[in-house]
Amino acid sequence: MTSDDDDLPIRVDFRDLATARTWIEETRIKRPYRPRFFAAFCAVLASRPKLRILELGSGPGQLAREILVHCDVHTYVALDFSPAMHEIAAEHLGELASRVTFVTRDFREPDWANDLGMFDAVVTLQAAHETRHKRHLVPLLERARSVVAPGGVLLYADHYLTPETKLPALAPARDEQPLALERAGFVEIELRYEEGNMALWCGTNEPPRDETTT
Ligand SMILES: C[S@@+](CC[C@H](N)C(=O)[O-])C[C@H]1O[C@@H](n2cnc3c(N)ncnc32)[C@H](O)[C@@H]1O
Repeated sequence: MTSDDDDLPIRVDFRDLATARTWIEETRIKRPYRPRFFAAFCAVLASRPKLRILELGSGPGQLAREILVHCDVHTYVALDFSPAMHEIAAEHLGELASRVTFVTRDFREPDWANDLGMFDAVVTLQAAHETRHKRHLVPLLERARSVVAPGGVLLYADHYLTPETKLPALAPARDEQPLALERAGFVEIELRYEEGNMALWCGTNEPPRDETTT
């Protein structure tokens, strides 16, 4: 017996190299709007200097390439549980790969954020649903916030629920997406881009209060 609260099993196993390559090709055709999301991530980050970036579920490195080319990146940590995806990302990034630290880790484990350091931005695209149930979204974002420096940002993009969604347990309603950021403790939550039933939200990790002015 299964209930709506059960985690869904992994359907597409990105740890398999052939499966990962097939997903990349199919996604290029099925989701032609993704480059506009890459640009929207870069638009948020472009004004910030010397960025320490962590990407969750970094996959084939497409977002990493755009950020590395268009933004002032000091360090870039690409976290994914698939060595196959890291291999593909290193290929895709070419010389830029030398600026990326590839971390193989499962973000469903509660200690995934340990020892990673602090970041000016945590970014994630089409990956948070891989916690395999939307009820894990807030805990994932809370852990992400634990490694965002004060004043730093979380950029979260993923699909939201529509009548056509095949696996509704994975997709929060559109209104629940910014609420999840709020529940995880982020402030100044803003929609930065939306297309194809996917939205990019930006939340800030509040800087510490200046006690001298209160
Ligand atoms: C749909 S792909 C998206 C990849 C990338 N963010 C993009 O949009 O091009 C999901 C990615 O999340 C990774 N992933 C899935 N489950 C994960 C987990 N539990 N921990 C870390 N990474 C995971 C997969 O290996 C895959 O690279």
